[in-house]
Amino acid sequence: MTKPIILTGDRTTGPLHIGHYAGSLANRLACQDSHEQFLLLADTQALTDNAHDPEKVRRSVTEVALDYLAVGIDPTRTTICLQSHLPALAELSMLYLNFVTVSRLERNPTVKDEIRARGFGRDIPAGFLCYPAAQAADITAFKATVVPVGEDQAPLIEQTNEIVRRVNATANQQILPEAVAVIPKTGRLPGIDGKAKMSKSGGNAIPLSASPDEISAAVKAMFTDPNHLRIEDPGRIEGNVVFTYLDAFDRDKTAVEALKEHYQQGGLGDGVVKKRLDDILQALLGPIRTRRTQLSKDPGYVLDTIKQGTERARERTDATKREVVEHLGLFRL
Ligand code: TRP
Repeated sequence: MTKPIILTGDRTTGPLHIGHYAGSLANRLACQDSHEQFLLLADTQALTDNAHDPEKVRRSVTEVALDYLAVGIDPTRTTICLQSHLPALAELSMLYLNFVTVSRLERNPTVKDEIRARGFGRDIPAGFLCYPAAQAADITAFKATVVPVGEDQAPLIEQTNEIVRRVNATANQQILPEAVAVIPKTGRLPGIDGKAKMSKSGGNAIPLSASPDEISAAVKAMFTDPNHLRIEDPGRIEGNVVFTYLDAFDRDKTAVEALKEHYQQGGLGDGVVKKRLDDILQALLGPIRTRRTQLSKDPGYVLDTIKQGTERARERTDATKREVVEHLGLFRL
């Protein structure tokens, strides 16, 4: 039986953090045997909002690849590949841009949020506005039906499926499959300051490579309930980052529920809850950090992994591109 295909990836703009772990990496790890999985180092997409800093985009390719390998992505089961070295993705993007309108691109909720967050105003890079069509190319070039991503990516998968339906309708044939986004139930992990988005640039992230001291400092600084001044006071768990993180990372759900109850009644100090979270994060990130340090001493291995993965991915994506061009009925020489 052939396994369902996964294509997913990350913009290469910096090392990944625990938000990525909870949001998508954990799902990707769980799919390594059940699915045929491709992980895309999305450097050309990273360039759509980092054209002023290609050096950062280049450097981050190895950082993200190291993060993948350190968390346990196994290159013998999952193919890690580099977007800029898969020409079929760029070619499919150009074709798909004819199956989407500018106003539809402007209405994409993720694109809208990102335009606001980056302060583009009216000066939106054209490549940025069009990246949803390029992401449709990424997904369909692999004929992926499953895309494990954070919840912010859901509108992009929806838009991908719209393009898929239009292309299939024009080709009068089901050449491309639609895809389903696999999104974790816990929702997006907030930054340690309680802000909606964890990001390196926001200074509110815990990178996967954080040292033990950095982890402890981040947990200490974490936003809790500002009105929980004395231990005996009842505390709020809504918007309390420590509890949000326990929900995401503590496997003992019964213990977390008991802690929440105690906290809400009063008599449980932030320090105790933070200590528990600190232990859990240290246990999660310790082995990842060790492996990352080991791997970073062997850049040749990391480079070979990306090279071999990209070659495998090239065959696959070239074949899909040929199929699309053929079925759309373009001239053939
Ligand atoms: N948009 C994703 C991000 O912001 C990266 C990405 C590029 C992606 N192509 C993809 C994700 C295809 C899933 C599928 O990190």
